Amino acid sequence: MLNPIDSDRAPDPPDQRQYAPATQRNRDPILVVLQRVLPPTGTILEISSGTGEHAVYFAPRLSPRQWLPSDPNPIARHSIESWRWHEPAENLCAPLAIDVCDPLWAENIAPQVNPQFNLQSNLIQAIVNINMIHIAPWAACLGLMAGAARILPTGGVLYLYGPYQQQGQHTAESNAAFDASLRQQNSDWGVRELEAVVEVAEKQGLQWQETIAMPANNLSVVFCRL
Ligand SMILES: C[S@@+](CC[C@H](N)C(=O)[O-])C[C@H]1O[C@@H](n2cnc3c(N)ncnc32)[C@H](O)[C@@H]1O
Repeated sequence: MLNPIDSDRAPDPPDQRQYAPATQRNRDPILVVLQRVLPPTGTILEISSGTGEHAVYFAPRLSPRQWLPSDPNPIARHSIESWRWHEPAENLCAPLAIDVCDPLWAENIAPQVNPQFNLQSNLIQAIVNINMIHIAPWAACLGLMAGAARILPTGGVLYLYGPYQQQGQHTAESNAAFDASLRQQNSDWGVRELEAVVEVAEKQGLQWQETIAMPANNLSVVFCRL
């Protein structure tokens, strides 16, 4: 027989969590860098949150900052919502639908923001983008930088994580093989040249601050809005 309390309870929503095993491996090394480079307060906008596993892990560990996840893919947004339901955090916002190839993505953020999130009093102080620019057309890198420059205040931070070529060379054999497999899947994808990414950022007033070697031949790259 049903307990009367249980029978009153709304049924649990379907479990739509997706899993990306790499997030378990890279989340702690990334967190160490974020704790050092992010501004101490304000909202952190995550572009291309994917499954949402980083969002639920980082949000409680980076409090009192607010964590605002996003992804253009509705399946990813359902996964983020599902992770949020299973591992709620007061400072983790509902995901936004942001495609950085949309030239107005930065301007379109405000109307999408959920009502309890006050953009005026909790400005976006940083943007975090993990493992996107090699799995998206180059236009996504251009759009990310252009929008970040419009959103971030002076001193705001842009953090990128992923594999890069440096001085025209892959930094490891495994990255060269990964690059070839990406380009085979989609000719617009590929491991980017760090120097080209920095050039695009700096043209938008996002000054390169530092590059940090990360496990598995990835890099963290940090920019500051001038
Ligand atoms: C490899 S996944 C990385 C997801 C997550 N950051 C992680 O590390 O697990 C790449 C993500 O980039 C997102 N993405 C691709 N093109 C995008 C675009 N134009 N704007 C924003 N996100 C994009 C995809 O939807 C996907 O979630």
